[in-house]
Amino acid sequence: MKTELAKELNVLISSPVMNKRGEDHKFQLPALPYAENALEPYISARTIQYHYGKHLATYITNMNNLIAGTEYEHLSLEEIVLKAEGGLFNNAAQTYNHVFYFEAFQAHDAQKILPSGKIAELINASFGSFDAFKEAFAKAATTLFGSGWAWLTINKDGKLEIEQTGNADSPLRHGKKPLLTIDVWEHAYYLDTQNARPKYIENFWNIVNWEVVNQRLG
Ligand SMILES: [Fe+2]
Repeated sequence: MKTELAKELNVLISSPVMNKRGEDHKFQLPALPYAENALEPYISARTIQYHYGKHLATYITNMNNLIAGTEYEHLSLEEIVLKAEGGLFNNAAQTYNHVFYFEAFQAHDAQKILPSGKIAELINASFGSFDAFKEAFAKAATTLFGSGWAWLTINKDGKLEIEQTGNADSPLRHGKKPLLTIDVWEHAYYLDTQNARPKYIENFWNIVNWEVVNQRLG
């Protein structure tokens, strides 16, 4: 049923970026679409090395171990996120959420820090202005207690929404199509801004790849 909802929401349930597999059919760490140091000074190469190279890699390894020999082994990552529970859900959703997060960055370019195209129109229609959207999104990211994510999503009526999910939870499980996310687990920012989560959120706006967000609208 949740898979049907994903189809209704036009969420690709086997997107290439989410489903990189090796010859052994195991999920693999997808390539970063930029160099490790490309996001500096906003996100350091050291954070990328640990967050992408260690944390995400570990979620993928754990997921591979948990699906081996089970009914989940040949499902897409999206289908696993929609169907799994417990430890498998945690590792699969953390894989999905992280790939989604890392995919939507680009090196800072002053000409590209504002959204354009359809996403810009939708943000203005839903929130009044980009600044009002940024404020609401940053508030969701700042006030999420503990570990989790803040999201810009679109529901099946085409309305944009901002939401928070705790730990590994994902909007996919709640009938929302994710468009943009920020990881607010401490591992996402502690090497760079230590306890200052708001500074990390402020940095985030300098490196969002809005073209990727537009592509996600489909
Ligand atoms: Fe993370």
